[in-house]
Amino acid sequence: MKKPVLHNLWIMIFLLFLSLHCTKEDIGMKIDVRTFGSLQPNQPVNLYILENGKGMKAEIINYGGIVTSLYVPDRNGHVADVVLGYDDLDDYIKDSSYFGAIIGRYGNRIARGRFSLDGVDYQLATNNGPNHLHGGGKGFHKVLWMAEPLRATDAVGLELTYVSEDGEEGYPGRLKAIVTYWLTRDNELKIDYWAQTDKPTIVNLTQHSYFNLAGHGTGDILGHELKLNADRFTPVDETLIPTGELRSVKDTPMDFTRLTAIGARINADDMQLAYGLGYDHNWALNHEPGEPGLAARVHEPGSGRVMEVYTTEPGIQFYSGNFLDGSNVGKEGKVYNHRYGFCLEAQHFPDSPNQPEFPSVVLRPGETYQQRTIYRFL
Ligand code: GLA
Repeated sequence: MKKPVLHNLWIMIFLLFLSLHCTKEDIGMKIDVRTFGSLQPNQPVNLYILENGKGMKAEIINYGGIVTSLYVPDRNGHVADVVLGYDDLDDYIKDSSYFGAIIGRYGNRIARGRFSLDGVDYQLATNNGPNHLHGGGKGFHKVLWMAEPLRATDAVGLELTYVSEDGEEGYPGRLKAIVTYWLTRDNELKIDYWAQTDKPTIVNLTQHSYFNLAGHGTGDILGHELKLNADRFTPVDETLIPTGELRSVKDTPMDFTRLTAIGARINADDMQLAYGLGYDHNWALNHEPGEPGLAARVHEPGSGRVMEVYTTEPGIQFYSGNFLDGSNVGKEGKVYNHRYGFCLEAQHFPDSPNQPEFPSVVLRPGETYQQRTIYRFL
């Protein structure tokens, strides 16, 4: 009688050992949590470290939903951190460049901070010259989000929730927003956005990572080659508000329909480039909104890294880091000089609330705002 019992016991111990060691950790997918800092004595900010077992690692804090680091292998498997950021929470609190953050309620500009909805006029903060930019003084990039680590069979994730009260930053309606970052086995950083409101409002969420595919702080991004799947862009006035026109990119420095170095025409004599101090414009994507379509492809010749951007959104803001001037001292003491990073912010067009011809950004009670954007590394 004793022997089979012992035998069964050994089998059970073996199975237990196997089940413990055949978790996702075994194929390298994991999430770790650490303390990053504290906003007030009782408001800890956490750093979530997501690894996909394929060489990619994303580090995200629940302050601003900021992607603080994104490690990506190059053509030889060497890993580098390809986003700009800081080492300390204090620097993110002071930051005015929106490094790595979730932007809301409205990504990009609204002319003079004004819009009307159902006959009611609203006035938002004017925090960018005469205009409203990126949600105002304390937008979604400056708030603490509730965070929940997630696991799926082919990805690890982080679900972030924030409830923006009725009237916050001048926006109508209590808006509940959920942003989920997924790091997939296919080397994608996938971002799902969801929001609902209790009063008619406007919403246009985006993500503001600055990329440098050679590694953050290693130089400017002018040698990166960019392709945008867009035949038209929204030309702007001198305060970067769209004129309402959808203009063809053909025969202009805005034409990225073929892979072209960002720096090839950035100093061309062109009124749009003069207004933007370089590229800081919204391209109208060719794909039909709905399923994520290929919006952009970026190739960094030195490392061989390639990033593709897929999105459900109608537009993408390509910003070539024109305001970076060396005053941002980033991770590992690296100085971010002029054009050391670029952003590809998938979103609705700027100033949509005042442009009836642009796709609508209105969200009403009972409706759900959803968008998906994927940064895929090849
Ligand atoms: C966006 C804007 C830019 C600039 C950056 C942040 O990309 O379009 O003009 O404000 O954010 O510095």
